[in-house]
Amino acid sequence: LANPWTWFAVGYLLGAIPFGLIVTRLAGMGDIRRMGSGNIGTTNVLRTGGKGLAALTLLLDAGKGALAVWLGHTFAYGGDILGGMGAFIGHLFPAWLLFRGGKGVATMLGIALAVYPPAGLVFAAVWLLVAAVTRYSSLAGLMAATLTPLAPALTGHWDAALLFAGMAVLVIAKHDENIARLRAGTEGKIGGRKGAAD
Ligand code: G3P
Repeated sequence: LANPWTWFAVGYLLGAIPFGLIVTRLAGMGDIRRMGSGNIGTTNVLRTGGKGLAALTLLLDAGKGALAVWLGHTFAYGGDILGGMGAFIGHLFPAWLLFRGGKGVATMLGIALAVYPPAGLVFAAVWLLVAAVTRYSSLAGLMAATLTPLAPALTGHWDAALLFAGMAVLVIAKHDENIARLRAGTEGKIGGRKGAAD
């Protein structure tokens, strides 16, 4: 249990639980991967299932990331970073969904809050600000993920800075379709009229 890679594996198993898919199924909605943007994350649950299910998805997806970090931190030196890394990779690439998972925004929030709380606060503040101003959830997630590594970098927490920088790269890669829609001006807005991606 003192081996931090054990917590990478546990983190993967936790992260790979697709809560967005599960809560919408349990609510009788069918397969969310065939609705809206097809993503299994909070934004698409909000779009297709409403606020209550979206809040639940956010809480569970962020919570599994935070739990993986906490478990690793409790049992192994370096286990917090590897637990968080495992949970993030599990969420993005869950084996039982043929490695097609979510985009990582809610899970990164939970991991950031647990690894280095100031980074989690930066993430949340940037997300809320960009979402309030632009109403684009994807842009808010992209900006939050990109700016979050700065918080630990400025205070010399290099392991956390490196972890968040790696996660930001993956968040950007997972948003390729959103980035194309943002550039084309066709990305759907939060609470907006139902567009192509909505
Ligand atoms: O958290 C995912 C969000 O950034 C974009 O989701 O469903 O609009 O592709 P979606």
